[in-house]
Amino acid sequence: MSGKIYLVGFGPGAEEHMTYKAKSAIAEADVVIGYTTYIKLVKDLLDGKEVIRKGMTEEIDRCIEAYEQAKLGKTVALISSGDIGVYGMAGPTYEVLLQAGWTPNADIQIEIVPGSTALSACASLVGAPLTHDFCSISLSDLLTPWPVIAGRLEAAARADFVVALYNPKSGRRTQQIVAAQTILLRYRDAATPVAIVKSAYRRRQDIQLVRLDAMAECDIGMLTTVLIGNSSTFIKESLMITPRGYANKYNHLTGKAKAGEQAGVSLSMGLEGWYACLRQYVQDNDNLTLEKIADYFNVAVGEVLNAIAAGDDAGEHRAAQVCSDKLAEVIRRCEAWGKLRGIVRAEAGAVTELFLHAQDFQQRGDWLNIETDAFHCHINWSKVANAYFASRKDKSYGVHFIDATGHLVFRLLLIKEQGEFSRTQLDSYQQAWQQLTSTGALHD
Ligand SMILES: C[S@@+](CC[C@H](N)C(=O)[O-])C[C@H]1O[C@@H](n2cnc3c(N)ncnc32)[C@H](O)[C@@H]1O
Repeated sequence: MSGKIYLVGFGPGAEEHMTYKAKSAIAEADVVIGYTTYIKLVKDLLDGKEVIRKGMTEEIDRCIEAYEQAKLGKTVALISSGDIGVYGMAGPTYEVLLQAGWTPNADIQIEIVPGSTALSACASLVGAPLTHDFCSISLSDLLTPWPVIAGRLEAAARADFVVALYNPKSGRRTQQIVAAQTILLRYRDAATPVAIVKSAYRRRQDIQLVRLDAMAECDIGMLTTVLIGNSSTFIKESLMITPRGYANKYNHLTGKAKAGEQAGVSLSMGLEGWYACLRQYVQDNDNLTLEKIADYFNVAVGEVLNAIAAGDDAGEHRAAQVCSDKLAEVIRRCEAWGKLRGIVRAEAGAVTELFLHAQDFQQRGDWLNIETDAFHCHINWSKVANAYFASRKDKSYGVHFIDATGHLVFRLLLIKEQGEFSRTQLDSYQQAWQQLTSTGALHD
């Protein structure tokens, strides 16, 4: 017998926010299955139907029940608030079915009916907070380990996403929102706007607009979604707005494209143009170190070196990437550069400077060891994915070893003797630059 399962997202709660398709799927169903509260929210649509109510923790039971009923040839509507595919029953249902040997070509058809998810419903009540890149993170650690949640919060905060927090707090889970606030405050201003929306489009709807540093003390519960702004989100006239970015391109008063920008074309700081912008910035700010430039653009040092290597218009700076098969050769070649300054950076910010000779290097398995009477330094060579020769004319000449994410593993710099780089040292360095990189010469 061929049954059918509709997986129906019925939106935030009010019937007027339910889609036409959600209503017609429920109307067509012989059996409606759902969490008790959800069944109450659609009670006006259930006349003459078999209704199966389940408790909050009986999610897998709801999927099994839907499958069993469909196997009897019935049309089933398994309902969920918001969008059933967003922290909803669509995933568990497919998992149960696939485990039971169901395939998409089997007798039982599955159809997902999308609905308006909490983040869009809540956003609509407070203004336009999601008009730029956003992400959603559930603070429920019932099925997800906290380090995974914390890692996602950290990444979202660092990347300046607007963040929608689902399942922010419950009777038992009271500290997750406090921990989330602590992580976000590491990257965001304390005054960042936050909207706390409870029971959107339901009887007890409540909205609070607060600052990020006040978020955790607010009234937050199981039926709350928290929307945290990014660095450009603002509140005006009690509306929370995240700009689309028109101000980056267009003049506010005239509506015309700003100098250097064109309507319908990527920004000058778009994918293709931004390396040139970085080089221009470097040209205009000749005294900056690679780290300072990386901080300014919020990128890794490897990206700065790549941008400098892509043109010869970065002021005093030049760079060229070492050919991938010549990484180990660099270490051999720098034996001819005399005494060197080795710089090793720890993730938390400590910078170690070592005075050494390349002859002190010993390669042991994955490790590049530098052992002298004064110190032992062990560098994880297996982390080195790229190297760049980079220089600032007459000021600095060196090689930068970079990991796969563009972060510095270590760098070796030539040292001046009596205030000057020696000619032989520079000649040997320049020769290595030309022979081990595929691009360009050093300086004119
Ligand atoms: C298990 S998730 C279900 C999400 C749902 N499938 C959706 O797409 O909106 C439950 C969480 O959704 C959010 N939520 C659901 N309905 C809401 C509403 N009407 N108002 C505010 N938040 C809501 C809350 O964060 C709640 O803790």
